[in-house]
Amino acid sequence: MDQMSTSNRPCLDNFWMPFTANRQFKAAPRLLASAEGMYYTDIDGNKVLDGTAGLWCVNAGHGRKRVADAVARQLQTMDFAPTFQMGHPVAFDFAEKLSKISPGGPSAKLDRVFFTGSGSESVDTALKIAIAYQRAIGQGTRTRIIGREKGYHGVGFGGISVGGLVNNRRVFPQIPADHMRHTLDIERNAFSKGLPHHGVELADDLERLVALHGVETIAAVIVEPMSGSAGVILPPKGYLESLRAIADKYGILLIFDEVITGFGRLGTPFATDYFGVVPDLVTTAKGLTNGAIPMGAVFASQKVYDALMVGPENQIEFFHGYTYSGHPVASAAGIATLEIYEEEGLLTRAASIADTWQDALHSLKGLPHVTDIRNLGLVGAVELAPRDGAPGTRAYDVFVDCFQKGLLIRVTGDIVALSPPLIIETDEIEKIVSILRDALKRVL
Ligand SMILES: Cc1ncc(COP(=O)(O)O)c(C=O)c1O
Repeated sequence: MDQMSTSNRPCLDNFWMPFTANRQFKAAPRLLASAEGMYYTDIDGNKVLDGTAGLWCVNAGHGRKRVADAVARQLQTMDFAPTFQMGHPVAFDFAEKLSKISPGGPSAKLDRVFFTGSGSESVDTALKIAIAYQRAIGQGTRTRIIGREKGYHGVGFGGISVGGLVNNRRVFPQIPADHMRHTLDIERNAFSKGLPHHGVELADDLERLVALHGVETIAAVIVEPMSGSAGVILPPKGYLESLRAIADKYGILLIFDEVITGFGRLGTPFATDYFGVVPDLVTTAKGLTNGAIPMGAVFASQKVYDALMVGPENQIEFFHGYTYSGHPVASAAGIATLEIYEEEGLLTRAASIADTWQDALHSLKGLPHVTDIRNLGLVGAVELAPRDGAPGTRAYDVFVDCFQKGLLIRVTGDIVALSPPLIIETDEIEKIVSILRDALKRVL
């Protein structure tokens, strides 16, 4: 008799887990078995409140029947069809529907959609589009991309090159890139509610990097308008506007990585809408399909798209694509997801609960070890002082404690990050904060 038939505990040997301390996890696993609405249920039947929308992706909450039905229907109608020199209506329909809510609204003209399979693929796609665009307009020497310290842009070679998290970079070779300084400044901005006041001048780093490398080498600058994975780092007031102005001045494309801010996280459909700053390319994934089926999408401006639609018509304009670009089942999941977002007003719902969220989070100020609290839309972070000589262990202990008490949070270093599904109600906000408060009181 195999192990599975006698217990609900799987054999843990073979799955090499991503971004996980495999040996530590396998010695004391946390296994989720089902999910509905705001809650997971673990394999022992315990309910776990989802404080992280899975991994910043399940914006409409778990177990959405409409998505499941659309997926089942599409699988039975057509499981797969290629999109290289072929097509199918579902991907075109999804792109058209996305164009109706595209970042920045109709005037931004960010309505050409390139489908990918994930956030990392969206990022590498956007970097390649930027470089190809520069070449198409006669700027072929512009191949360098500027990113930012502490940025997270997935794990492709392009993404780690422009990203700024050392553990993701140190072992691997990279494409030509350089980095602006990050905008986390706890000394000046601790416990800011919403956008921090200090640090707009950090955008001038782009100008310094132009002076250092030569403008003719720089294709694009990529930033998360609000960076999530590094522990929720907000742009200072005026920073993104300034970045846009400097990029324009030097013919540099601006890319917003909206893999986590896309689809309602800040209380607007995209961060582009929240900040009123229009980039040239926007990368998305995660909330695109409510996390149900892997998929990403890059929104490109008409200007960028048109620049590449040149040359003989029988020539492939952009030598790039994935087997699963515009996958019919993922597209069907995406269309159903958009319908839910629209019917339930989820792309703007975070705006109506952001104040409650903010007050609840900032009530944790003054607890032991808490050095900063940050929030925007339905995102929050509680930064803890690290233990001497053992960075990251304090927040990890809080994470384990919360999980045991029925709350899923996410930790990066000594930062607790929160990003619940956008369907969250006030009593669930209170529950998140109450479990976290107790864990913070207990942790040594
Ligand atoms: C801003 C940003 N870009 C890219 C990615 C990578 O997405 P994926 O894990 O789907 O490749 C993430 C994932 O968290 C992200 O937060």
